[in-house]
Amino acid sequence: MFGLLFFVLMVHNANGDVSYSFPEEMKRGSVIGNIAKDLGLDVNRLSSGNARIDTEGNRKRYCDINLNTGELIVAERIDREGLCGKKASCVMKQELVLENPLELHRFILNIQDINDNSPLFKQTLINLEMSESAVKGSRYLLDEAHDADIGVNSVQTYILQNNDHFILNVVTRENGRKYGELMLNKELDREQQKEVTLILTAVDGGTPPRSGTVAIHVTVLDANDNAPVFSQAVYKVSLPENSPLDTVVVTVSATDADEGHNGEVIYEFGHLPETHMKTFSLDSLSGEIKLTGLLDYEEESSIELPIQAKDGQGLASYSAVVIDVVDINDNVPIIMIKSLKIPVPENALPGTEVGVINVQDRDSENNGQVRCSIQQNVPFKLVPSIKNYYSLVTTGELDRELLSDYNITITATDEGSPPLSSTKNIHLTVADVNDNPPVFQEQSYRAHVQENNKPGSSICSVSATDPDWRQNGTVVYSLLSSDLSGAPVSSFLSINGDTGVIHAVRSFDYEQLKSFKVLVMARDNGSPPLSSNVTVSVFITDENDNSPQILYPSPEGNSFMTEMVPKAAQARSLVSKVIAVDADSGQNAWLSYHIIKATDPGLFTIGVHSGEIRTQRDISESDNMKQNLIVSVRDNGQSSLSATCALYLLISDNLAEVPELKDKSRDESSSKLTFYLIIALVSVSTFFLTFIIIILAVRFCRRRKPRLLFDGAVAIPSAYLPPNYADVEGAGTLRSTYNYDAYLTTGSRTSDFKFVRSYNEDTLTADLTLKKIQSAVDDLEGLDAEMRDSFQVGLEYFFKNNWVDFFFFTFNICVFI
Ligand SMILES: *[C@@H]1O[C@H](CO)[C@@H](O)[C@H](O)[C@H]1NC(C)=O
Ligand SMILES: *[C@@H]1O[C@H](CO)[C@@H](O)[C@H](O)[C@H]1NC(C)=O
Ligand SMILES: *[C@@H]1O[C@H](CO)[C@@H](O)[C@H](O)[C@H]1NC(C)=O
Repeated sequence: MFGLLFFVLMVHNANGDVSYSFPEEMKRGSVIGNIAKDLGLDVNRLSSGNARIDTEGNRKRYCDINLNTGELIVAERIDREGLCGKKASCVMKQELVLENPLELHRFILNIQDINDNSPLFKQTLINLEMSESAVKGSRYLLDEAHDADIGVNSVQTYILQNNDHFILNVVTRENGRKYGELMLNKELDREQQKEVTLILTAVDGGTPPRSGTVAIHVTVLDANDNAPVFSQAVYKVSLPENSPLDTVVVTVSATDADEGHNGEVIYEFGHLPETHMKTFSLDSLSGEIKLTGLLDYEEESSIELPIQAKDGQGLASYSAVVIDVVDINDNVPIIMIKSLKIPVPENALPGTEVGVINVQDRDSENNGQVRCSIQQNVPFKLVPSIKNYYSLVTTGELDRELLSDYNITITATDEGSPPLSSTKNIHLTVADVNDNPPVFQEQSYRAHVQENNKPGSSICSVSATDPDWRQNGTVVYSLLSSDLSGAPVSSFLSINGDTGVIHAVRSFDYEQLKSFKVLVMARDNGSPPLSSNVTVSVFITDENDNSPQILYPSPEGNSFMTEMVPKAAQARSLVSKVIAVDADSGQNAWLSYHIIKATDPGLFTIGVHSGEIRTQRDISESDNMKQNLIVSVRDNGQSSLSATCALYLLISDNLAEVPELKDKSRDESSSKLTFYLIIALVSVSTFFLTFIIIILAVRFCRRRKPRLLFDGAVAIPSAYLPPNYADVEGAGTLRSTYNYDAYLTTGSRTSDFKFVRSYNEDTLTADLTLKKIQSAVDDLEGLDAEMRDSFQVGLEYFFKNNWVDFFFFTFNICVFI
């Protein structure tokens, strides 16, 4: 088809040379032109002239002449590219040679290019390497394609295969040749597409156009454009607290799309507090997080560990591990004493709050629910108060004297499984309240004191105990002040306030005071103090400190004559009687009588116990008229005391016979005194007789027959009464329990008798009687004062001591009168 379309162009150039223009590659035999005609030659001439075509320089003959027609025909393939290459015009000079005559005609063959060559690249494959980080607009030079044809038949354009990343930029050089540049239109991503293959086509301008292709292989080089990516944004794990060391918490993993060094991932913790650094370890290569320490829920219930993954170039990404620590019952409850009001007074009412206790358990939920109790049998309990607080209150009465300390153990148990518990001891002391009075060890005390004791000597001690504490139990003794026969008790006794030892303040005299009672108070030092009393009875025991007192005969009496003894006195007749008393009692007052000196030792004898002086034999005329006896009276005390007296006995029937008495005139008493004496005699005698009758009646009724026989006149002057008898104090209590024993001699030699009377029986009547007698005595005004006093003393003595004594007294008074 191509061949048909060409045309041959014949032109005459300026030289007149014929030129033929025709396309290359015409078939052999194709007619280029009719040269004969064109040269104006006869066809016959050609054959005659043996026409032929010559080329300059013996070159290949490309065309021939048809001698018959004169047509110029293609003899050989004419390849313009072979003949002329890239020359713009391809001209071959040819000559037509004729012989006979030799004729030479020049003509030119101008060969026209046809598009018979395709563009060609040097290689079939272009390898390009590009970094994925190359920016948009980057250019990459591509090889030029070559086309042997010229002009429009050479490479006119390039076409790049459609693709996502590149566009083609065709550049025309100055010489008109064109080449392509690959321009990055959209960034590459190695991670998406490691290589790109493109086909580049070069197209010439022939008709039809021809083309050549080359493959472009783009290898995308890695750039570290990818950070590692964690598999999870946050790793959530839960782990029980106290998990063992080396427990794997979690393994984190991150991937990096980059390759090689750029894709090597190293794990690290982000910023960690120091405690966490010790608790966790992270394997930088495997991403395994392990425990290197213990987790404590109570410290931290949730832990966030920032982690990062880094690639070789340092690109990093971040994530976090959130550890939810699971509580384990690993904390025992803690009991704290917030306040304690100790000591607790023992009078605290039940329900008194003694202390406040707080319980804490650091565990959570049930593990931290605590119950608190006291398991002992103590009068205290725990009352739950506001959350976790308990009041310790008393539940009963306290008594320090029974139990002064309590060791209370408080137990707190949580509700975990297994439950944990703890205990706390509280030592509670009970404070004393002065609630116990001192108690004496005995209900009453008795003390016996020998009379004539040294003042200040201790006589007994009392002791009281008080179980209260310190001063509340410190006992102080004191005497309760009272009067003891008119004198304050403190003048008798004193007590050591601390020891309770009772001392005598004075020397006691049994004859004055036989017993007494005092109240001793024991008082503690509390405030207010408590006290109790005890009775101390003091009994004074007798000592032989009184020598016998001879009442009759009076030592200062008549030294001339004590008794008259009738001359006719027979043997064993009673002559006189020595009357002595001893203020002591008992053995100390048991008197014995002895004649220690006599004018005629054989004549008189004395009753050892009766003191009766009797004749031993009949009195004879030869006996001296004056007989003197010295009698000693001894008591029976341990070291016996004695007294002596002299008796002057006158053996005579008539005083007138006695020469010494002859001129002795009677004392002239005043008539007034006589008058009063008569009155006194009458009244006392009357009283005495009445008394005697009553007494004898009583005695006989009781079949006791004391014979009170006093023969002869016995005068006892009142002044010789023992003074202590008159001084006896009137406090009845002193004698209330004291039995007054009187040992008296009687007329009987063989029998002593004893009157036993308790003064108490007679107190009331005696007092009344005493008053009456007192008034009677008062009537005796004008009576000799000494005598009256004696009289009164006698009466008092009777009523205060013993009527038996009074009996003798009265009797003696009468005799005296
Ligand atoms: C309390 O405990 C202490 C020491 O443990 C002990 O000496 C004391 O006797 C105890 N008191 C009571 C009341 O148990
Ligand atoms: C004694 O008892 C009183 C209350 O009666 C009390 O206040 C005081 O503290 C007690 N003294 C001692 C030493 O216990
Ligand atoms: C002790 O005696 C005194 C005086 O008689 C009296 O006031 C007091 O109440 C008595 N105390 C006791 C505990 O009997």
